[in-house]
Amino acid sequence: TFTPRVFSGAQPSGNLHLGNYLGALRNWVRMQGSEFETIYCMVDLHAITVWQDPAELRHATRELCAGYIASGLDPEKSILINQSQVPEHAQLAWVFNCIARMGWMQRMTQFKDKAGKNAQNASLGLFAYPALMAADILVYHATHVPVGEDQKQHLELTRDIAIKFNHDYGVDFFPVTEPVIEGAATRVMSLRDGSKKMSKSDPSDASRINMTDDAETIAKKIRKAKTDPDALPSEAKGLEDRPEARNLVDIYAALSDQNVDQVLAEVGGKQFGAFKPMLAELAVEKLAPIATEMARLMNDQTEIDRILTRGSERARAITAPILRQTYDIIGM
Ligand code: ADP
Ligand code: NA
Repeated sequence: TFTPRVFSGAQPSGNLHLGNYLGALRNWVRMQGSEFETIYCMVDLHAITVWQDPAELRHATRELCAGYIASGLDPEKSILINQSQVPEHAQLAWVFNCIARMGWMQRMTQFKDKAGKNAQNASLGLFAYPALMAADILVYHATHVPVGEDQKQHLELTRDIAIKFNHDYGVDFFPVTEPVIEGAATRVMSLRDGSKKMSKSDPSDASRINMTDDAETIAKKIRKAKTDPDALPSEAKGLEDRPEARNLVDIYAALSDQNVDQVLAEVGGKQFGAFKPMLAELAVEKLAPIATEMARLMNDQTEIDRILTRGSERARAITAPILRQTYDIIGM
């Protein structure tokens, strides 16, 4: 049996956005201080699978850490780390590159989405990304991983890698990790295109609400969000085939801690012209304090660096013995 332990992370590759917050971060905060030991990571090694400007990467890593803390993660209650400062992640990833099969990797839809039409020109790291993610999780023997919907397939691969390693070496060493995908908005969609998820890497800033956006910007993005001409239905069934409408209702539900039915009981029959200002007001009320706190924390970057250095030390007390045991099992 394994210690109940949570690991999750986000990429310092741009702005933390509402999808990250509702799909992931809020659940991370919820699991903190429970029966779980919690470890949350800025996954900079994942970020460089596509080109990052060095100064921007350094800035984004600190800002992401500020975003975690401003959202409610407490560096005393959780271990906060920067991936590249804990070398065992990359070391175990190599082992997993040798466990994972080419065929498994070729099925990963995120690679296909991110590499696009020109897959031959994608980095080898982008292809191997899910094996590094498996290492991020399993180097802690993490039992639970709170993520958004988009990471479901990568979590299945993590389980397959753990099972194959255990089987190949005849051990019961790595846990078969459980994904935790919870809340009313586990897949927040782009505000400009209801068929795409809200993402840091979307070139259109209007497609997402950034956690650093000010009140006016949030209100404007919601006002301009793509919708359809119909009124809101009074039941969830009425949102089928209306992805943009569904998305705004999901966001409202998540931000107000209600389910979709409760929201529709309140707003069913309203036009978007009336609903959007309600959503904007709620979003500003919930997000503006986080943006303010992020800005305050970014005034003392030495303190952020100190938190990450301390987190890495605590992390390595877990990861170094697990890597050592892995090497022993393998015969190294
Ligand atoms: P991005 O895809 O924007 O670069 P990351 O890959 O850093 O974000 O993901 C960090 C966490 O946020 C992951 O758990 C991921 O599942 C979650 N997440 C990312 N985008 C969304 C979204 N649009 N809706 C819900 N959760 C999301
Ligand atoms: Na992602």
